[in-house]
Amino acid sequence: MSYPYQIKSLEQYHADYKRSVDDPAAFWSAIAEHFTWKKKWETTLNWNFTEPRVEWFKGAKLNITENCLDRHLEKSGDMPAMIWEPNDPDEHHRILTYRRLYEKVCQFSHVLKNNGVKKGDRVCIYMGMIPELAVAVLACARVGAIHSVVFGGFSAQSIADRLYDAQAEFIVTCDGAYRGQKDIPLKSVIDDALIGNRIVKRVIVATRTRTPVSMIKGRDVWWEEEINKVETMGLHDFPAEEMDADDPLFILYTSGSTGKPKGVVHTCAGYMLFTNYTFVNVFQYEPGDIFFCTADIGWITGHSYIIYGPLSAGATSLMFEGVPTYPDASRFWKIIDKFKVNILYTAPTAIRSLMGFGLGPVHGHDLSSLKVLGTVGEPINEEAWHWYDEHIGKKRCPIVDTWWQTETGGILISNIAGITPSKPSYATLPMPGVQPILVDESGKEIEGNSVSGNLCIKAPWPSTIKTTYGDHERCRTNYFATYPNLYFTGDGALRDENGFYRITGRVDDVLNVSGHRIGTAEVENAINMHASVVESAVVGYPHDIKGQGIYAFVIYQGSHAQNTHGTADLIRKDIHQTVTRIIGAIAKPDKIQFVSGLPKTRSGKIMRRILRKIAEGETENLGDTSTLLDPGVVEEIKNGKL
Ligand code: WT7
Repeated sequence: MSYPYQIKSLEQYHADYKRSVDDPAAFWSAIAEHFTWKKKWETTLNWNFTEPRVEWFKGAKLNITENCLDRHLEKSGDMPAMIWEPNDPDEHHRILTYRRLYEKVCQFSHVLKNNGVKKGDRVCIYMGMIPELAVAVLACARVGAIHSVVFGGFSAQSIADRLYDAQAEFIVTCDGAYRGQKDIPLKSVIDDALIGNRIVKRVIVATRTRTPVSMIKGRDVWWEEEINKVETMGLHDFPAEEMDADDPLFILYTSGSTGKPKGVVHTCAGYMLFTNYTFVNVFQYEPGDIFFCTADIGWITGHSYIIYGPLSAGATSLMFEGVPTYPDASRFWKIIDKFKVNILYTAPTAIRSLMGFGLGPVHGHDLSSLKVLGTVGEPINEEAWHWYDEHIGKKRCPIVDTWWQTETGGILISNIAGITPSKPSYATLPMPGVQPILVDESGKEIEGNSVSGNLCIKAPWPSTIKTTYGDHERCRTNYFATYPNLYFTGDGALRDENGFYRITGRVDDVLNVSGHRIGTAEVENAINMHASVVESAVVGYPHDIKGQGIYAFVIYQGSHAQNTHGTADLIRKDIHQTVTRIIGAIAKPDKIQFVSGLPKTRSGKIMRRILRKIAEGETENLGDTSTLLDPGVVEEIKNGKL
């Protein structure tokens, strides 16, 4: 199968783009014809950004897993759907053909059903990067349950919050997970998360690390035992639940500038269409290619470009359990050589970190199978771009810089590999169906080229965020209320003389640390939990590898801390512990500066702008400090900068 809607020339890109904007309904309904539906749609698109309400393919019935699995069986049943490379290079890799994956998904669908999971139920998935994670995700989709995958690096507290928010009754987890040198005791984290929880009825535990676990009677069951029951009954198929186009497919929690993480909801039809469309177009995937996305399924990139996009396209998706630097910094290149990977999709932070090891680890590995390279998650600096281009792509492989968000479901702005031009550090042009605009603070559109502003999207694309789980108003205020009738991305961007977009970074209080989104307010709340912390303010600063580092200014009760712990370093460690416990290690501040006060306005608002400048190393132009309650505090903070 190749893809009738794959863009094959620059002219076609322009023509398709124009069609998609002139008549989005006609454009997307023609593409939708290439999918498997249980019932076709009545209307292609209904929308209103003020509510917001965006309905694609209303009236249609489908199951996304029939598109990801069943429809490939006849022709490609023996094709590898998934190649799995373990953390430890000496352990055997696994290959799951479309048929095998289908069977495993069907079997686990029975397991879910046998354990009481019904359509619409929320299932929290907290697993390492093993094939069973993909199986669990797809089985949820098959039975119509809503999956909420939580990244294995999040703490028990974070899981507890997410379980509560989604009112999840079911959990799928592992005994433990391998990640590089680490062995993460996932089940024990789940046990902590469940203390006091009265909603979760069942925890299904897959075996991976053989880490000792305690199984709670009546609540916890083993994955393997449940599968055995199904196998003995000879069950290999499971009828896919009939879903409405806009029935929720999954919830994925992501950080914002305020409050706790919100549960971004994506629904079945539009998300399926758009992840598939962007996958085959941006990467110019050809049947038989091996596609390696290095993200974790705990993030949207893994959902859209390890599972749903590639599998709906009948592609071969490579899933890697480990980290780029284990057992050494040649791991990615070894994997590419081993499986003759054709397309590599990774994050700038990984490239920068591997760059730091020099060319030694790259040498001696055959990278000639590579055709296309991609990046995602944060702006890529030109140095990293060129390193990637020269030393990995050997100047033969187009690099796609893909800009998108958890909320957008799929890639919105990116060059198309080998078809549309690339420009280092630019995401360049919108995908068909995507209408970006730049606005100023007041919401006025900034027209023309060579301009910059806040990036908004002015019409729906098929995988527009549907809602934030349990709180639609939050979805409205966060994304659709800042500027009337526009989806606001939270990013700043510039548009160059050719109309190419360069995403410059968040304009709100959201940090992007190694491509992971972290709200400053969330980190502050975690730090403030520490008994000797009075108050804190968190900002980002440029970090060579992570893109952004976390800089925390902390007021602590000096005397108490002195007495009990002695040194500032020990208190820093305590604060790290607290943040790790409340959020997870990914949110640990890189720098903690103790201060006696914070720059505040007379109304008590922390002037983060000033702190940001100080953290960035700026000492001169801090802007207007005259409105501060106590301008003297700025001098002290400047002098104490780390
Ligand atoms: C934020 C979204 C999209 C999957 C991974 C992150 C930043 C993402 C790019 C890029 C510059 C980028 C933006 C965006 N971002 N891709 N190619 N160039 N910035 O998903 O956690 O939802 O974060 O990541 O700031 O808003 P996410």
